[in-house]
Amino acid sequence: MRTVRPKVLVTRTIPEAGIRLLDAECDVVQWRSDEVIPRDTLKAMLADKDACLTLVTERFDADLFDAAPRLKVVANFAVGYDNLDVPEATRRGIMLTNTPDVLTDTTADYAWMLLMAAARNVLPGTQYIAAGNWTSWKPNIGVGPDIHGATLGIIGMGSIGRAVTRRASGFGMRILYHGPHRYPDAEASIGAEYRERKEDLLREADFVSIHAPLTPDTYHLIDADALALMKPTAVLVNTARGAVVDTDALVSALSAHRLFAAGLDVTDPEPLPANHPLMLLPNCIVTPHIASASFATRDATSILAARNILAALRGERPPSLINPEVFHENHAQ
Ligand code: GLV
Repeated sequence: MRTVRPKVLVTRTIPEAGIRLLDAECDVVQWRSDEVIPRDTLKAMLADKDACLTLVTERFDADLFDAAPRLKVVANFAVGYDNLDVPEATRRGIMLTNTPDVLTDTTADYAWMLLMAAARNVLPGTQYIAAGNWTSWKPNIGVGPDIHGATLGIIGMGSIGRAVTRRASGFGMRILYHGPHRYPDAEASIGAEYRERKEDLLREADFVSIHAPLTPDTYHLIDADALALMKPTAVLVNTARGAVVDTDALVSALSAHRLFAAGLDVTDPEPLPANHPLMLLPNCIVTPHIASASFATRDATSILAARNILAALRGERPPSLINPEVFHENHAQ
């Protein structure tokens, strides 16, 4: 029987569903704020903690691990984990977890919303009315590319990429995908065609949606050269990580109308200042990293992150362990 309850830090205000689970077995301290916990405060609060439930805004690296000598598990409240130094945590025997699956469909819905809104001029249309320009029905305003029957290019055919392609079947789209792995099952079930070279996908696609994690290999995957290959009528959607796209190159392409439009839920830098050039472009919709923000998905993410922590602290294998090599049965007791 455990006599001392483990100590857990939660680095932000998150849905209570996960907090309640943690409270039942642990002493929980929470940074109750909508803003990022200052780094020094985070270090001080981690000094006596066994576990941390964190957001992507906190970078867990050697410097932070040094301040957290008791840490056994870090649970990311996100599927992406480019904020976690995996080799460093693994060297130290610290378990890392993420929240796959629970946000797949919600994020795929949102990627579609951005794709459609960017293609069909939702933002310029709203701005047009707000500016008092809607004087009559006009055939020459708000004209954009058709979505149905077009070619959708997916960069990164993981679970979110697949969920996006499933939705595309309702629009009769042709599907191309690019990434390090080929998925014969996706090719058979959704008729997706693999493009080994991203250049081939970029040349052929009318819509390009990014679903790849941010890694050294995907940093600026969409750079000036990549954008130059895209059709001038094409739309780029990014719900993955901002730095997969070279922001300056994207601003140039959109300003020069070498690309029709972009829909971005993630940016580099992030957060994006209100006066950033991307915000001033009528053919770019930017939202503040909210693709997974549905009521149910936020609750499910909170619960999964908490379950990951509880399993690790009980010595059980966390449901979504990123670095399984550090897990040994009853390891954490
Ligand atoms: C959000 O960006 C996530 O990775 O879940």
